[in-house]
Amino acid sequence: MEAIILSGGFGTRLRPLTYTKAKSLLPILNKPMIVHLIETLPKEVNKIILAVNYRKDQIENYFNENDFGKEIIVNDEPKPLGTGGATKFAEKHITGRFLVLNSDIICSLNLKDMIKFHINNKAIASISLWPVENVSEFGVADVRENGKIVGFVEKPKPEDAPSEFINAGAYCLEKKVLDYIDTGRLVSMEKEIFPQIIEDTNRFFGFKLKGYWMDIGRISSYIDVHRFLLNRNKIKKFQGNNCKVFGTIKETCIGNNVTIGKNSKLDCAVVYDNALIGENVELSYCVIGENCKIADFSDIRNSVIGDNEKLIENTILDNKAVWTQPIPEGYPDKQIGNVIEK
Ligand code: GTP
Repeated sequence: MEAIILSGGFGTRLRPLTYTKAKSLLPILNKPMIVHLIETLPKEVNKIILAVNYRKDQIENYFNENDFGKEIIVNDEPKPLGTGGATKFAEKHITGRFLVLNSDIICSLNLKDMIKFHINNKAIASISLWPVENVSEFGVADVRENGKIVGFVEKPKPEDAPSEFINAGAYCLEKKVLDYIDTGRLVSMEKEIFPQIIEDTNRFFGFKLKGYWMDIGRISSYIDVHRFLLNRNKIKKFQGNNCKVFGTIKETCIGNNVTIGKNSKLDCAVVYDNALIGENVELSYCVIGENCKIADFSDIRNSVIGDNEKLIENTILDNKAVWTQPIPEGYPDKQIGNVIEK
């Protein structure tokens, strides 16, 4: 069975981290987020198709150097095709029923159970569902007791929401779903293809996942997922190799070769490899990119510092994204992910 992993997005909401790195390679507890996903694949998945575009070389290099015991195909789109277009573009590698997975979700979904659910329902398409309180920010599934989905309502007012369940970003699909998708254009699976399948087949189902689910779309959710996994694993901090820590760190993850000077305090921070944090620095709820230098007496809160940035002594920042280098050519200045432009 094949699994298409959608990993071609620009990750605009995770700027400036995604100016230098593919979103799916951003580390979570020092391991690329896509690897957390690959570790949840059941053994019947023997082939992984990576639907890539932006920063495809980084992704290809990573998978050339690391073996996950499954065949890996790097499927490079000529241009961003969206979630549907990227799935269609992988058609030549699909032999039958297959999975499509967003690479930016950390969750406790049991894919084996979801495939079983799909087969038992004789579904054409099944999607994972997750309950939320803030329904008005999402596409909400109109889901029946038996799991059948009869429609979606985009960003409903709470009183108009057909349920509390939203699309949780994992799909089990029959091969014929590919016939619904046009070749070579930007297509949203969620907004264009799923409604059509519901209308035509009435065999569209939702699998409610239990446990936890986090969409790593924003800097805040990126920090929160670290905090969540640290607490879940009952560890106070996570540290790579060769670190020199003279300060105190709490609910924090630091990469390899990181130095943290005397009297510095880190609380809910994510610090990438080779960062140098000076003395008497306070970092709270921030991400510090690779090779960054944060000089003494700085106080940084609720902020993200892109790779290779150097901050001078006494830098005070709150709610800032720091990037002083050129923006990569072709990087969009707005979110394009699932947004359809016709
Ligand atoms: P934002 O720009 O911050 O919205 O992030 P994104 O580009 O990752 O978009 P979004 O979060 O909507 O994407 C959901 C999933 O689909 C992620 O795993 C993306 O990598 C992937 N994705 C989005 N657009 C494309 C695309 O055009 N091609 C491919 N191959 N994957 C995509």
